[in-house]
Amino acid sequence: MAIRIAMLAAECEPWAKTGGLADVVDALARALGRLPKAGLGLATPVDVFLPRYRLVAVPAGAEVEPPLWIDNPATGGDPLEVHVLNVQADGYWLRLIDVPTAFGRDAYYDHPDDPWRFAVFCRAALAVMRRDELPIDVLHIHDWHTGPVLLERARADLAGDRFFARTAVMLTLHNLAYHGWVPQDQLFQLGVEKGSALAGPNPDGLDLLLTAITGADLINTVSPGFAAEALTPAFGMGLDEALIAKGDRFFGILNGLDTGVWNPATDAVLAAAYERDAMRGKAACRADLLGRVGFDPADTGLVAGMIGRMDPQKGFDLLSDGAEELLASGVRIVVQGSGHASLADPFRALAAANPGRVALIERFDREMARWIYAGSDVFLMPSRFEPCGQGQMIALRYGTPPVVRRTGGLADSVRDVDASGGGGTGFVFDEATPAALVATVLRAARLREQSPAQWAQLQHRAMTMDFGWDTGSAPYYLEAYRRAAVLRRA
Ligand code: GLC
Repeated sequence: MAIRIAMLAAECEPWAKTGGLADVVDALARALGRLPKAGLGLATPVDVFLPRYRLVAVPAGAEVEPPLWIDNPATGGDPLEVHVLNVQADGYWLRLIDVPTAFGRDAYYDHPDDPWRFAVFCRAALAVMRRDELPIDVLHIHDWHTGPVLLERARADLAGDRFFARTAVMLTLHNLAYHGWVPQDQLFQLGVEKGSALAGPNPDGLDLLLTAITGADLINTVSPGFAAEALTPAFGMGLDEALIAKGDRFFGILNGLDTGVWNPATDAVLAAAYERDAMRGKAACRADLLGRVGFDPADTGLVAGMIGRMDPQKGFDLLSDGAEELLASGVRIVVQGSGHASLADPFRALAAANPGRVALIERFDREMARWIYAGSDVFLMPSRFEPCGQGQMIALRYGTPPVVRRTGGLADSVRDVDASGGGGTGFVFDEATPAALVATVLRAARLREQSPAQWAQLQHRAMTMDFGWDTGSAPYYLEAYRRAAVLRRA
């Protein structure tokens, strides 16, 4: 019998995105749709449920289902009307849950009623599945926003409602820093009474991510390295004990990279195409980037690129604190980031003081990101923690050796050129300090300047790495879905 999967997530590229979560949900759903049908027993296409935020651009061809009604989680009655829009995406069905009072706002997150909003989302998605009358074997949920799924399943189980009796929940952790904490006086948003079985053991409130971890049948995070780190107090963000308690039901699956979306041989925005065995175009991309950011293209010194959410996680401060020393050694810096403006302040000051040597692009700009990946000489990811990370994989594919901290998915995907007997793909350092980052960038600059042949080999090896979803991560997820289904039925 074929197994049927439904995903629930707060983000999915290209409809709603603030970070890597969106890319992974979309790429995984598409890859599952591409797996060979014969013998694998996966019913495809899979459904991906996503809130219809105000900013979601709904395609004209979307199929509109008749509305349905759910009880308002906050009151238990007071029915809410749910509209469902189905969009045929590339290899999967996107099912938009439209409840304007919850999602008809500009920002995706950070509203005081977020627990209620995501409780509505989860309850509505599950109501749609009931109406479909197609039993789901595995609900694949992502991060804290989808934690209310476990509350709904527990409610159904307590009420003797058999609908989800054979439905497993698999949880993927993309970020442990955001828990979805609901203080006791806000539990009503989830329809949970304090002191009840659903409220859990903490009298102060309910942690939606912890609730999801405790209740899920199977849990993974997005790299084996981070799975190991997450079991320690330093990285577990208060969830390490709960994850340890899951034993072998918690593990890592390294994210893939969408090698169709990210390919310097076909990337239409680049000044010139290039590939592993025909690298001439990369120089044109470098000259193009430098021209765009006002740097001298004739200067051969190292250009270091960095792209990311301006979040303390990403280590932008390590670069801004070490920038003067790098600049003094002839290194130039291109930074693109969006998010916390205060993390961008030092770069703004550096760019003003060093025109032509430091550039800051303070926005989320898809084209500029591609110019930076292709046109930089090295790509920096000095993250304090990194469940997987995507930038380093893109940089490898674009022949731009990454400089990364040895943590999580970065440690799993980049090998240091000096530490691997001539087989490395980038540069790895340990300490989360500006000095360690600076020393490593300068190590890269020296190799590039003194040994162009070795540098070319390094680029070649980097571009040989294959993180494709189809051959790696997606089959692992399929295996995990099967295991989750077996565990729930046992
Ligand atoms: C989060 C993590 C990042 C990971 C992404 C997708 O953004 O911080 O490391 O790559 O999720 O799984």
